[in-house]
Amino acid sequence: MVKPVTKAVFPVAGLGTRFLPATKSIPKEIMTLVDRPLIQYAIDEARGAGITDFIFVTSRGKSALEDYFDRAPELEHALEAKGKDQLMQVLEDTNMPSGAISYVRQQQAMGLGHAVWCARRLIGDEPFAVVLPDDLIAADEPVLAQMIEAHNEIGGCMMAAMEVEPDKASAYGILDAESRDGNVVKVKGMVEKPEAGTQPSNLAVIGRYILTPQVLENLHETGRGAGGEIQLTDAIAQQIGKDPGVSGLIFDGERFDCGNKGGFLQATVAFGMARDDLGPEFKEFLRGLKLD
Ligand code: G1P
Repeated sequence: MVKPVTKAVFPVAGLGTRFLPATKSIPKEIMTLVDRPLIQYAIDEARGAGITDFIFVTSRGKSALEDYFDRAPELEHALEAKGKDQLMQVLEDTNMPSGAISYVRQQQAMGLGHAVWCARRLIGDEPFAVVLPDDLIAADEPVLAQMIEAHNEIGGCMMAAMEVEPDKASAYGILDAESRDGNVVKVKGMVEKPEAGTQPSNLAVIGRYILTPQVLENLHETGRGAGGEIQLTDAIAQQIGKDPGVSGLIFDGERFDCGNKGGFLQATVAFGMARDDLGPEFKEFLRGLKLD
């Protein structure tokens, strides 16, 4: 039987230099998409998939993240005194039960694999999820929930996957699929950021993973890979060919790359349009724009 997945790791140690100067004083994950910080979307997706333990891998200068998930007693009292019940509820939705979030620091920027390895003592000997908040996915059913459902059937390591344009493949981990059954592909090889034109397919890994504790053991031994960093992809690849192996789930949903400005802007427009309270007026504004 596959053990249930209750823990998720959120690597949030990056400097966010693509968003300078904003990230000079605020972590990238706190940047606002419509009216909520980017990290809130990742947390909500994980909560919607049944995750109860949230492990943040942070770095210096990220204390705003810890404050965000703490209670804000003064604000709560002020809202209560004014009878602002709706806003109280908005705040309540951001509160996490005591002890649900743990923080561990990645002391050196050595890559995604290293960030996940830093969380090893909090993960222990059970399958766990990894969620990259930069990958924002609009979906009817949270993508992590889609994955956990599929993972319950087959176990092993699973990654979210989607087709990308061939000229974009070198920005991703790319899968080499052996076979496909519905939305699940069995993986026979994977490569992190292949050189242009050398990718085995255009099926890219998107930032949602369910991993077995063996990957943490592999990470002890994983040397520096693409870009001189310790790559999660390389540690997962070591599980290929072992039972129960490695798979990719071609998820239902629309993914936005909020790790760059263009993607963040597109996500802002898409999520703004989708909001019941803002969408109608916002769409009217967009329709009226002169686009050249
Ligand atoms: C990371 C992973 C890569 C994956 C990507 C998805 O790369 O290393 O395999 O395809 O996330 O967003 P990064 O974007 O951090 O360079």
